[in-house]
Amino acid sequence: SMALEACKKNNSSPSAPTVDFTIDISTSQYTALQKNGGYVYYNSDSIIIARDGSGNFVALYDVCPHAGCTVQVNGSSRFTCPCHGSAFDESGNVITGPATSGVKKYNTSLSGNQLRIYG
Ligand code: FES
Repeated sequence: SMALEACKKNNSSPSAPTVDFTIDISTSQYTALQKNGGYVYYNSDSIIIARDGSGNFVALYDVCPHAGCTVQVNGSSRFTCPCHGSAFDESGNVITGPATSGVKKYNTSLSGNQLRIYG
C-alpha cells in the first residue's frame, strides 16, 4: 500500500535548508508568537516557529524525517507528527519513533519585534 511504501522510506525526507530571515512578530500573521505556547508555520522554508511555555522561541524544520508529514506543536515544549506519532524535543531530537533521526533546529534571536531565524 501507499502507507507501507511511505514507512519504508524512513529518514529519506529532503534535507533542511540553510536560511537567514527576519519576521516582525507584531504583524497580524505572526501574532500567535506573542503568546507563550503559540506557533506559526513559515511555509516557504518548511519551518515551524514556536514560543515555548517559558517564552523562548524555537524554530525547527517541520518535515518529519520518517515519511515527510508536517510536524506540529503538541504542548509547550514538544513537537509531534500526526502521521505515525513521532515526537521531537525543542532541540529537534527524537523522543519517540518511528522517526530515527531528528529535525534541524535553527537559531533564533529577538530584537524588539524582529525575530531572526538563521542557520
Ligand atoms: Fe511518519 Fe512523521 S511521517 S511519523
